[in-house]
Amino acid sequence: MKNNVFVMDHPLIQHKLTILRDKRTGTKQFRELINEIAMLMCYESTRDLPLKEVKTETPLMTATTKKLAGRKMAFVPILRAGLGMVDGLLTLIPAAKVGHIGMYRDPETHKPIDYYCKLPADLDERDVFVLDPMLATGGSAIDAVARIKEFNPKRIKFLCIIAAPEGLEAFTTAHPDVPVYCAGLDDCLNDHCYILPGLGDAGDRIFGTK
Ligand code: PRP
Ligand code: URA
Repeated sequence: MKNNVFVMDHPLIQHKLTILRDKRTGTKQFRELINEIAMLMCYESTRDLPLKEVKTETPLMTATTKKLAGRKMAFVPILRAGLGMVDGLLTLIPAAKVGHIGMYRDPETHKPIDYYCKLPADLDERDVFVLDPMLATGGSAIDAVARIKEFNPKRIKFLCIIAAPEGLEAFTTAHPDVPVYCAGLDDCLNDHCYILPGLGDAGDRIFGTK
């Protein structure tokens, strides 16, 4: 395992991931779980945020305490399925800006086709968290991060819920400077480039389109 890949083995994440994978889990619960897992992943993946010391008046005395050192952040979901993770992260970091990148995989070639990109204007001042529940071949994430790099953000992290080894290898080779956080590292891809065991089509399960 490369040292910039973090598989989150926290019991709450693993428990929720198991329910997410279950084919009997319906759209409402699926959506809730994606957001809950994203929130827990946000907590873990922001562990290295810098802090500064401040003076705080408690009801009893003045104390030296800590606050975030003014780091600006942006969340960029890859449409559609990445949208399902945004609210979970915003629960913990409500001041973050949100950009969007639209990508879909060609059903024949499995190559990503981009159709939309709208990012915060001041991305060069921000840490960017790119969000997509599924890293399969890695094509969508690789292209999305390449697009974001054109705007010179301070740092980029990629958060996915399930990664396939093939996608992880491709992504970390293309973007060795971008840490990857995932909840599950699965076995392989099938002939249609779906992750096994996976959870099926994330976009369809979030939005109920199948
Ligand atoms: C899914 C998923 C990723 C992509 C992963 O999106 O949300 O964006 O596939 O596959 P890759 O790693 O092989 O590129 P999809 O193309 O199904 O679009 P959707 O989210 O709009 O349904
Ligand atoms: N996209 C999905 O939604 N699921 C997969 O398993 C692979 C790509």
